[in-house]
Amino acid sequence: MRAILIRFAVPTLIAVSILAFFGVPYVDRILADWFRSDVDMRAQLVANSMEGSVDNFLENDDEKGLARYLASITTDERLMAIALCGADAKAVLSTERTPPEISCAILRDIGDRGSSLVKLANGSVEVSSFPMGSRNGKALTALIIHDLGFIDRRQSSARNYVLALAGVSASVLALFLGFVFWLLIRRWVNELVGDIRGRRFLDDARSEPGSRRILTQIRRVLREAETSQRLEIDFHENWTPQALQQVVRDHLGAPEVFIVSNREPYIHNAGPSGPVVQVPASGMVTALEPIMRACSGTWIAHGSGTADRQVVDAHDRIQVPPEDPSYSLRRVWLRTEEEQGFYYGFSNEGLWPLCHLAYVRPAFREADWQQYQAVNEKFAAVVAAESGSKDPLILVQDYHFALLPGLLRERKPRATIALFWHIPWPNAETFGVCPWKLQILTHMLAADILGFHTRYHCQNFLATVDRFLECQIDHEHMTVTLGGRVCRVVPYPISIEWPPRWLASLPDVNTSREAVRARHGIASSVCLGLGVERWDFTKGIVERFLALEALLDKDRAARGKITLLQVAAPSRSRLPAYQALQAQTLSEATRINEKFGTENWKPIVLIDHHQEPREVFELFRASDFCIVNSLHDGMNLVAKEFVAARDDQDGVLILSTFAGASRELPEALLVNPFDVSETAAAMRTAMQMGRDERRERMKLMRRTVKENNVYRWAGRMLMDAARMRQRQSLTKNILEL
Ligand code: F6P
Repeated sequence: MRAILIRFAVPTLIAVSILAFFGVPYVDRILADWFRSDVDMRAQLVANSMEGSVDNFLENDDEKGLARYLASITTDERLMAIALCGADAKAVLSTERTPPEISCAILRDIGDRGSSLVKLANGSVEVSSFPMGSRNGKALTALIIHDLGFIDRRQSSARNYVLALAGVSASVLALFLGFVFWLLIRRWVNELVGDIRGRRFLDDARSEPGSRRILTQIRRVLREAETSQRLEIDFHENWTPQALQQVVRDHLGAPEVFIVSNREPYIHNAGPSGPVVQVPASGMVTALEPIMRACSGTWIAHGSGTADRQVVDAHDRIQVPPEDPSYSLRRVWLRTEEEQGFYYGFSNEGLWPLCHLAYVRPAFREADWQQYQAVNEKFAAVVAAESGSKDPLILVQDYHFALLPGLLRERKPRATIALFWHIPWPNAETFGVCPWKLQILTHMLAADILGFHTRYHCQNFLATVDRFLECQIDHEHMTVTLGGRVCRVVPYPISIEWPPRWLASLPDVNTSREAVRARHGIASSVCLGLGVERWDFTKGIVERFLALEALLDKDRAARGKITLLQVAAPSRSRLPAYQALQAQTLSEATRINEKFGTENWKPIVLIDHHQEPREVFELFRASDFCIVNSLHDGMNLVAKEFVAARDDQDGVLILSTFAGASRELPEALLVNPFDVSETAAAMRTAMQMGRDERRERMKLMRRTVKENNVYRWAGRMLMDAARMRQRQSLTKNILEL
């Protein structure tokens, strides 16, 4: 508005000043002419009224009387003086205030019926001459001298009035025009902003005919730009760290980049000879770490390692990755009660079972919720303190930070905020049991982008919002407008880096097979099935054992021919549900091994501790099949890692239909993890599948994972973020018009 007013007021005032500069002298002149002709008329009247009386005085030769008479006439303020001049242009009589500069000699210039403007030292006078009787037979002429000082005074006040009037009219006009223009622009902007934010991009019905053409043009340009950007992403086959860097540089304008997550990408634990670095078993870390390597920036996460504090600098930062530092890890410390309520309590006993349909009942406790809010506040404060710019790009990760978009928006209104939800989103009824659903949903919707793994999860989220909030949902463009702010809800299927960096240090597949088999006592003739997970009830580990048992029960020939190597990385072990799962897993493994095992063969080999990524990749390369039978999973990156590890184009993947990865990898053997017989049959198929079929399936899956790698995942999200930033600055620019 201010800009619009300035743009209207300034030119109007300049125009008025130019007009005044040239116009005022002209007006002055006209006024002067008017006033002088008034004075001349007045002089004529005075002369007419004097004629008879002057004649009388002259006839009676009453010079004194004539002098008194003339003096009485000149008591008028404006009639300054009267002089009577003889034929020889000599003064016969003149009143007291006759200016010394004026003499009867003036008659030579103006004659006995004329007038002249005479400028004196203290103002102008108008001298008018009239024939006026005779003396001693000689004609006399009266000079009537009017003071024109009043004209100057009137002219100057008239000039002031004119200028003031022009100024006021100009200002009113400028304000009025500016206001009308602003209303017009607002209207267009509202329509455009509605369009830009995806509310009614194609709807012209509400636009005024006048603005429709312009709006249509702008929409077309915006649409074309977006389409070309989308095509650029969708058909860009070779997504690499360099391509991602280019997106950050060229499309986002190299903003400050922050990742915020609970789990840190590198954990320092105390070892016998100093801190030991560990890469945690986390799909989120697997995906995000290569992104951060490519883009740099700051990763803000909970410092959970026992030696984390020993290795940070005075600002709680450490440069990582340890072998080749390229970004900053800012650790946030949590007190025991914060970790208990925020991480174990609300996040993992509340939201985790709420979002995963694994039939573990979520627990919602007020005290946990308090800590969850407090820790989200704490992270918001850290992000704000770390950020030096007004519009950083903040990529918030996961269900631990549902409140963070709202809290960050308060502190950094112009930030571009994306929240990626790494786990499934349940249906509206299920989510409805959360006592703090409204706070969670409204805070999430303060993000510019909400990402889920699948369209199905996006639709569940939109249905949840629809059920519980008063807001505007555009299902076509997948946007939610709440309190005037638009949030895009988009599926971004997460992935892994291609090729995984761990492969570079591994030997060929045969060497890996031999090493792993030797290490775990598995004969080369035995089909090696592999399971790799955090020890979590959503992963279907026990169900997998039961499927193996069913296979061995049913098919006696399979006994001694198949071993399941299960890596179960301890996770959230403080929680009763996880402790129960660990106990159940151990007892089921023992039971099945006792039931079928022989001196030289065990159906199940359980590795019950964390394995570093390089070790996991060696296992992937050593196995004949990998089984991912999660009961419910957002994506599951183990499935994609297995495929990426198999550059020999061999190996079979058994994959749960309830893992997001099954949408992208239909060439896997898809199973319902709750159906033990079906899972057993899939294991059997994997054992028997011919080399050609294995190769064909693996080739297709590898192409998918290669093309849809994590750089594409991040690239799509960052391009969407770039679009949001462009729209915001477009909106800002239009509003500043
Ligand atoms: O991949 C989903 C996820 O929830 C991550 O967000 C998380 O880091 C990971 O599982 C492991 O869980 P945790 O961080 O609790 O060990």
